[in-house]
Amino acid sequence: MSGLTIKQVTGNIGAEIEGVDLSGPVDASIADALRRALWDHQVLILHDQFLDIAQLKQVTALFGPLQRLPYVEPIAEDPLVIGVRKKATDKKIAVFGGNWHSDFSFLEHPPAGSLLSAVEIPEVGGDTVWSNQIAAYETLPDNLRDVVEGRAAIHVGKPHGVKFAPKGNQRSTIKMVRGDPEADRETFHPAIRRHPETGRRALFVNPVYTSRLDGMSEAESEPILDRLFWHATRPEFSCRHRWRAGDLVVWDNRSTLHFAVNDYDGSDRLLYRTTFSDAQRPQA
Ligand SMILES: [Fe+2]
Repeated sequence: MSGLTIKQVTGNIGAEIEGVDLSGPVDASIADALRRALWDHQVLILHDQFLDIAQLKQVTALFGPLQRLPYVEPIAEDPLVIGVRKKATDKKIAVFGGNWHSDFSFLEHPPAGSLLSAVEIPEVGGDTVWSNQIAAYETLPDNLRDVVEGRAAIHVGKPHGVKFAPKGNQRSTIKMVRGDPEADRETFHPAIRRHPETGRRALFVNPVYTSRLDGMSEAESEPILDRLFWHATRPEFSCRHRWRAGDLVVWDNRSTLHFAVNDYDGSDRLLYRTTFSDAQRPQA
Protein backbone atom coordinates (compact mmCIF):
# COMPACT_ATOMS: atom_id res chain seq x y z
CA MET A 1 0.00 0.00 0.00
CA SER A 2 1.37 3.39 -0.97
CA GLY A 3 -0.74 5.22 1.64
CA LEU A 4 -1.71 8.04 -0.66
CA THR A 5 -5.26 9.16 -1.28
CA ILE A 6 -6.56 10.09 -4.71
CA LYS A 7 -9.59 12.38 -4.92
CA GLN A 8 -11.00 13.28 -8.33
CA VAL A 9 -11.70 16.99 -8.74
CA THR A 10 -14.11 16.65 -11.70
CA GLY A 11 -15.84 13.82 -13.52
CA ASN A 12 -13.33 13.71 -16.38
CA ILE A 13 -9.96 15.14 -15.36
CA GLY A 14 -7.78 15.99 -12.39
CA ALA A 15 -7.13 14.47 -8.98
CA GLU A 16 -5.91 15.78 -5.65
CA ILE A 17 -3.28 13.59 -4.05
CA GLU A 18 -3.07 13.52 -0.27
CA GLY A 19 -0.86 11.69 2.20
CA VAL A 20 2.45 12.21 0.45
CA ASP A 21 5.39 14.51 1.21
CA LEU A 22 7.59 15.02 -1.83
CA SER A 23 10.27 17.12 -0.14
CA GLY A 24 12.46 14.09 0.70
CA PRO A 25 13.20 10.66 -0.76
CA VAL A 26 10.11 9.03 -2.27
CA ASP A 27 9.38 5.33 -1.88
CA ALA A 28 9.27 3.29 -5.11
CA SER A 29 5.67 2.24 -4.38
CA ILE A 30 4.63 5.89 -3.96
CA ALA A 31 6.40 6.86 -7.18
CA ASP A 32 4.56 4.05 -9.00
CA ALA A 33 1.24 5.15 -7.56
CA LEU A 34 1.87 8.76 -8.60
CA ARG A 35 2.72 7.79 -12.18
CA ARG A 36 -0.32 5.54 -12.38
CA ALA A 37 -2.52 8.33 -11.01
CA LEU A 38 -1.11 10.75 -13.59
CA TRP A 39 -1.88 8.42 -16.51
CA ASP A 40 -5.38 7.83 -15.07
CA HIS A 41 -6.31 11.44 -14.23
CA GLN A 42 -4.02 13.55 -16.49
CA VAL A 43 -3.54 16.26 -13.84
CA LEU A 44 -2.34 15.75 -10.25
CA ILE A 45 -2.68 18.44 -7.58
CA LEU A 46 -0.65 18.24 -4.36
CA HIS A 47 -1.01 20.95 -1.72
CA ASP A 48 1.51 22.19 0.87
CA GLN A 49 4.64 20.79 -0.80
CA PHE A 50 6.74 24.02 -0.82
CA LEU A 51 9.52 22.47 -2.92
CA ASP A 52 12.83 24.20 -3.55
CA ILE A 53 14.47 23.96 -6.98
CA ALA A 54 16.46 20.79 -6.18
CA GLN A 55 13.39 19.07 -4.71
CA LEU A 56 11.26 20.07 -7.68
CA LYS A 57 13.81 18.50 -10.04
CA GLN A 58 13.89 15.30 -7.96
CA VAL A 59 10.12 15.02 -8.08
CA THR A 60 10.13 15.70 -11.84
CA ALA A 61 12.54 12.81 -12.36
CA LEU A 62 9.96 10.43 -10.81
CA PHE A 63 7.87 10.98 -13.94
CA GLY A 64 10.58 11.06 -16.61
CA PRO A 65 13.96 12.52 -17.59
CA LEU A 66 14.12 16.30 -17.25
CA GLN A 67 13.90 18.11 -20.57
CA ARG A 68 15.35 21.51 -21.34
CA LEU A 69 12.85 23.60 -23.28
CA PRO A 70 14.01 25.46 -26.37
CA TYR A 71 13.04 29.09 -27.07
CA VAL A 72 12.41 29.91 -23.40
CA GLU A 73 14.94 31.48 -21.08
CA PRO A 74 15.45 29.37 -17.92
CA ILE A 75 16.17 30.78 -14.47
CA ALA A 76 19.76 31.91 -13.86
CA GLU A 77 20.40 29.15 -11.30
CA ASP A 78 19.30 26.19 -13.41
CA PRO A 79 18.92 25.57 -17.16
CA LEU A 80 16.21 22.95 -16.56
CA VAL A 81 13.86 25.25 -14.64
CA ILE A 82 11.71 28.12 -15.88
CA GLY A 83 10.40 30.91 -13.71
CA VAL A 84 6.81 31.65 -14.72
CA ARG A 85 6.64 35.16 -13.35
CA LYS A 86 4.42 38.19 -13.68
CA LYS A 87 5.03 41.28 -11.59
CA ALA A 88 2.45 43.62 -10.15
CA THR A 89 3.86 46.30 -12.46
CA ASP A 90 3.39 44.07 -15.59
CA LYS A 91 0.06 45.30 -16.87
CA LYS A 92 -1.68 44.52 -20.16
CA ILE A 93 0.99 42.04 -21.27
CA ALA A 94 0.72 38.53 -22.70
CA VAL A 95 1.24 35.70 -20.21
CA PHE A 96 3.13 32.51 -20.99
CA GLY A 97 0.55 29.92 -22.03
CA GLY A 98 -2.39 32.33 -22.24
CA ASN A 99 -4.16 30.36 -24.98
CA TRP A 100 -5.28 26.72 -25.13
CA HIS A 101 -2.29 24.58 -26.08
CA SER A 102 -0.19 21.57 -25.29
CA ASP A 103 3.47 22.34 -24.79
CA PHE A 104 5.89 22.42 -27.72
CA SER A 105 3.94 20.05 -29.98
CA PHE A 106 5.97 21.40 -32.93
CA LEU A 107 9.01 19.48 -31.68
CA GLU A 108 9.64 15.99 -33.03
CA HIS A 109 9.57 14.83 -29.42
CA PRO A 110 7.05 17.00 -27.58
CA PRO A 111 7.43 16.83 -23.78
CA ALA A 112 5.63 14.03 -21.92
CA GLY A 113 4.58 16.33 -19.10
CA SER A 114 5.33 19.25 -16.86
CA LEU A 115 5.26 20.37 -13.23
CA LEU A 116 4.45 23.75 -11.74
CA SER A 117 5.39 24.62 -8.18
CA ALA A 118 3.63 27.68 -6.80
CA VAL A 119 5.75 30.21 -4.91
CA GLU A 120 3.78 33.45 -4.94
CA ILE A 121 0.12 33.54 -5.90
CA PRO A 122 -2.32 36.47 -6.22
CA GLU A 123 -5.11 36.85 -3.71
CA VAL A 124 -7.46 36.04 -6.55
CA GLY A 125 -6.96 35.09 -10.21
CA GLY A 126 -4.15 33.43 -12.16
CA ASP A 127 -5.85 30.02 -12.29
CA THR A 128 -4.77 27.32 -14.75
CA VAL A 129 -7.26 25.21 -16.73
CA TRP A 130 -6.62 21.80 -18.30
CA SER A 131 -8.73 19.83 -20.75
CA ASN A 132 -8.73 16.03 -21.18
CA GLN A 133 -8.08 15.09 -24.80
CA ILE A 134 -8.87 11.41 -24.25
CA ALA A 135 -12.41 12.42 -23.30
CA ALA A 136 -12.41 14.82 -26.26
CA TYR A 137 -11.43 12.01 -28.64
CA GLU A 138 -13.94 9.55 -27.21
CA THR A 139 -16.81 12.00 -27.70
CA LEU A 140 -15.81 13.40 -31.11
CA PRO A 141 -18.80 13.68 -33.42
CA ASP A 142 -18.58 11.06 -36.18
CA ASN A 143 -18.10 13.58 -38.99
CA LEU A 144 -15.09 15.11 -37.23
CA ARG A 145 -13.68 11.73 -36.25
CA ASP A 146 -13.87 10.61 -39.89
CA VAL A 147 -11.71 13.58 -40.93
CA VAL A 148 -8.95 13.15 -38.33
CA GLU A 149 -8.83 9.36 -37.93
CA GLY A 150 -5.62 8.13 -39.57
CA ARG A 151 -4.60 11.67 -40.58
CA ALA A 152 -1.59 13.70 -39.46
CA ALA A 153 -1.81 17.26 -38.19
CA ILE A 154 0.98 19.68 -38.97
CA HIS A 155 2.57 21.68 -36.15
CA VAL A 156 4.87 24.68 -36.45
CA GLY A 157 6.56 26.74 -33.74
CA LYS A 158 4.46 29.76 -34.63
CA PRO A 159 5.44 32.34 -32.01
CA HIS A 160 9.13 31.48 -32.30
CA GLY A 161 9.56 31.37 -36.07
CA VAL A 162 9.50 33.99 -38.80
CA LYS A 163 6.36 33.26 -40.78
CA PHE A 164 3.84 33.39 -37.92
CA ALA A 165 5.73 35.38 -35.28
CA PRO A 166 3.73 38.12 -33.56
CA LYS A 167 4.39 41.53 -35.09
CA GLY A 168 6.22 44.17 -33.09
CA ASN A 169 7.64 43.89 -29.62
CA GLN A 170 5.19 41.77 -27.71
CA ARG A 171 5.73 42.09 -23.99
CA SER A 172 5.42 38.78 -22.20
CA THR A 173 5.92 37.30 -18.74
CA ILE A 174 8.64 35.01 -20.11
CA LYS A 175 11.66 35.83 -22.23
CA MET A 176 11.20 33.92 -25.49
CA VAL A 177 13.42 33.54 -28.53
CA ARG A 178 11.72 34.61 -31.77
CA GLY A 179 12.73 34.82 -35.41
CA ASP A 180 14.25 31.32 -35.70
CA PRO A 181 13.44 30.02 -39.22
CA GLU A 182 13.87 26.46 -37.90
CA ALA A 183 10.69 26.95 -35.83
CA ASP A 184 8.67 27.39 -39.06
CA ARG A 185 9.52 23.85 -40.08
CA GLU A 186 6.45 21.62 -40.38
CA THR A 187 6.31 18.65 -38.01
CA PHE A 188 3.78 15.90 -38.71
CA HIS A 189 2.12 14.15 -35.76
CA PRO A 190 -0.94 11.89 -35.76
CA ALA A 191 -4.10 13.92 -35.03
CA ILE A 192 -5.21 11.02 -32.83
CA ARG A 193 -2.37 9.65 -30.73
CA ARG A 194 -2.11 6.58 -28.57
CA HIS A 195 -0.93 7.11 -25.03
CA PRO A 196 2.26 5.09 -24.56
CA GLU A 197 1.44 4.16 -20.93
CA THR A 198 -2.24 3.25 -21.19
CA GLY A 199 -2.89 2.65 -24.89
CA ARG A 200 -5.82 5.08 -24.70
CA ARG A 201 -6.33 7.36 -27.67
CA ALA A 202 -6.36 11.15 -27.43
CA LEU A 203 -7.07 14.02 -29.77
CA PHE A 204 -3.74 15.75 -30.51
CA VAL A 205 -4.33 19.09 -32.20
CA ASN A 206 -3.07 22.35 -30.78
CA PRO A 207 -4.80 25.74 -31.07
CA VAL A 208 -1.42 27.53 -30.86
CA TYR A 209 0.85 25.31 -32.96
CA THR A 210 -1.31 23.29 -35.39
CA SER A 211 -1.29 25.07 -38.75
CA ARG A 212 -3.24 22.59 -40.87
CA LEU A 213 -4.23 18.99 -41.44
CA ASP A 214 -2.25 16.74 -43.77
CA GLY A 215 -3.61 16.79 -47.32
CA MET A 216 -5.34 20.14 -46.81
CA SER A 217 -4.32 23.77 -47.13
CA GLU A 218 -4.42 26.12 -44.13
CA ALA A 219 -7.63 27.65 -45.50
CA GLU A 220 -9.29 24.24 -45.93
CA SER A 221 -8.14 23.10 -42.50
CA GLU A 222 -9.22 26.19 -40.60
CA PRO A 223 -12.96 25.51 -40.22
CA ILE A 224 -12.28 21.88 -39.27
CA LEU A 225 -9.59 22.82 -36.77
CA ASP A 226 -11.90 25.46 -35.28
CA ARG A 227 -14.55 22.81 -34.68
CA LEU A 228 -11.97 20.43 -33.22
CA PHE A 229 -10.61 23.13 -30.88
CA TRP A 230 -14.13 24.09 -29.79
CA HIS A 231 -14.89 20.46 -28.97
CA ALA A 232 -11.48 19.84 -27.36
CA THR A 233 -11.97 22.61 -24.82
CA ARG A 234 -15.54 21.94 -23.68
CA PRO A 235 -16.00 22.66 -19.95
CA GLU A 236 -17.01 19.07 -19.18
CA PHE A 237 -13.55 17.83 -20.19
CA SER A 238 -11.78 20.42 -18.07
CA CYS A 239 -10.65 21.21 -14.55
CA ARG A 240 -9.61 24.60 -13.22
CA HIS A 241 -7.02 24.95 -10.49
CA ARG A 242 -7.05 27.84 -8.08
CA TRP A 243 -3.47 28.04 -6.87
CA ARG A 244 -2.15 28.38 -3.32
CA ALA A 245 1.50 28.89 -2.44
CA GLY A 246 3.10 25.47 -1.91
CA ASP A 247 0.92 23.72 -4.51
CA LEU A 248 2.54 21.33 -6.93
CA VAL A 249 0.69 20.36 -10.09
CA VAL A 250 1.83 17.69 -12.53
CA TRP A 251 0.21 17.24 -15.94
CA ASP A 252 0.39 14.84 -18.82
CA ASN A 253 1.19 16.86 -21.95
CA ARG A 254 0.29 13.93 -24.23
CA SER A 255 -3.39 13.84 -23.36
CA THR A 256 -4.27 17.38 -22.24
CA LEU A 257 -4.43 20.98 -23.35
CA HIS A 258 -3.98 23.79 -20.84
CA PHE A 259 -4.64 27.51 -20.51
CA ALA A 260 -3.12 30.12 -18.18
CA VAL A 261 -5.81 32.59 -17.15
CA ASN A 262 -4.47 36.16 -17.26
CA ASP A 263 -6.82 38.00 -14.90
CA TYR A 264 -4.52 39.28 -12.16
CA ASP A 265 -2.95 42.54 -13.35
CA GLY A 266 -1.55 44.37 -10.36
CA SER A 267 -0.48 41.24 -8.44
CA ASP A 268 2.82 39.37 -8.26
CA ARG A 269 2.77 35.74 -9.33
CA LEU A 270 5.65 33.25 -9.45
CA LEU A 271 5.74 29.54 -10.16
CA TYR A 272 8.71 27.32 -11.02
CA ARG A 273 8.26 24.97 -13.87
CA THR A 274 10.03 21.81 -15.02
CA THR A 275 9.38 19.49 -17.94
CA PHE A 276 9.96 15.78 -18.52
CA SER A 277 10.66 14.16 -21.85
CA ASP A 278 9.03 11.43 -23.89
CA ALA A 279 11.08 8.45 -25.09
CA GLN A 280 9.17 8.27 -28.36
CA ARG A 281 7.48 10.49 -30.90
CA PRO A 282 3.67 10.62 -30.79
CA GLN A 283 2.29 7.36 -32.22
CA ALA A 284 -1.08 6.77 -33.87
FE1 LIG B 1 2.08 25.57 -21.52
